Amino acid sequence: MQNQNHLILKVLYLLFCFMFFSCYINAQLLIPAKLDGFWYHNRSPKPDSIVIEAFFDPVCPDSRDSWKPLKKAIQHYGSSSVSLVLHTFPLPYHDNAFLTSRALHIVDKLNISVTYHLLEAFFDQQEKFYGKATSNLTRTAVREKIANFVVETVGSSYSAAILDGFNDVKTDQATRISFKYGSLRGVYGTPSFFVNGFPLTDADSSLGYEGWLKNLDPLVKKQGN
Ligand SMILES: *[C@@H]1O[C@H](CO)[C@@H](O)[C@H](O)[C@H]1NC(C)=O
Ligand SMILES: *[C@@H]1O[C@H](CO)[C@@H](O)[C@H](O)[C@H]1NC(C)=O
Repeated sequence: MQNQNHLILKVLYLLFCFMFFSCYINAQLLIPAKLDGFWYHNRSPKPDSIVIEAFFDPVCPDSRDSWKPLKKAIQHYGSSSVSLVLHTFPLPYHDNAFLTSRALHIVDKLNISVTYHLLEAFFDQQEKFYGKATSNLTRTAVREKIANFVVETVGSSYSAAILDGFNDVKTDQATRISFKYGSLRGVYGTPSFFVNGFPLTDADSSLGYEGWLKNLDPLVKKQGN
């Protein structure tokens, strides 16, 4: 009996070690080589600039509605005092959220100057990518449709690279990393915003231009001192 107990303990111990090491290895793989996100105007922030982080889903109507006022606010302050970094956060209950997010990662790798242009194109024509528009299409057909849309938007010179991008495991990984990054920050919906690392609690699509100014004005004033 005692031998049997010993055996069970040994097996459990080995199992525990195995689980510990496999989780440990996964955790190690998780750390990306660079901080996630697409900087607006390709600019990383100066040390004392205000940093806005936006978590957007390219096929989320609320993300779409929140973009114009945010963009206007950034233009108001100028990108030397306010910087924006965008993270894709594909919501599981939105059709094709992951694929459209992946398209942004693909394009960002090819030319960081066109990432936001593609984001705006998705926002402008979102209804092409969910609901009835894609409900009868296979996953492959949807991917083709999205790839064609991306090529039309960013230019046919990128055509081959974009198609390759959808087969490149690295762009899949990059899109997963964005999602994990958002999850680690406690993001559970889009749009979600953080200012200097702190969450904007009332931040949804109802946060208009005036709302942004109300939040940012006091910070910009302090920054000037
Ligand atoms: C990236 O895109 C911008 C804007 O369309 C363009 O002016 C620039 O030439 C592109 N760069 C490369 C390396 O293709
Ligand atoms: C999807 O396919 C079914 C069966 O062919 C058809 O009855 C339905 O109208 C189609 N739906 C759309 C939105 O095209």
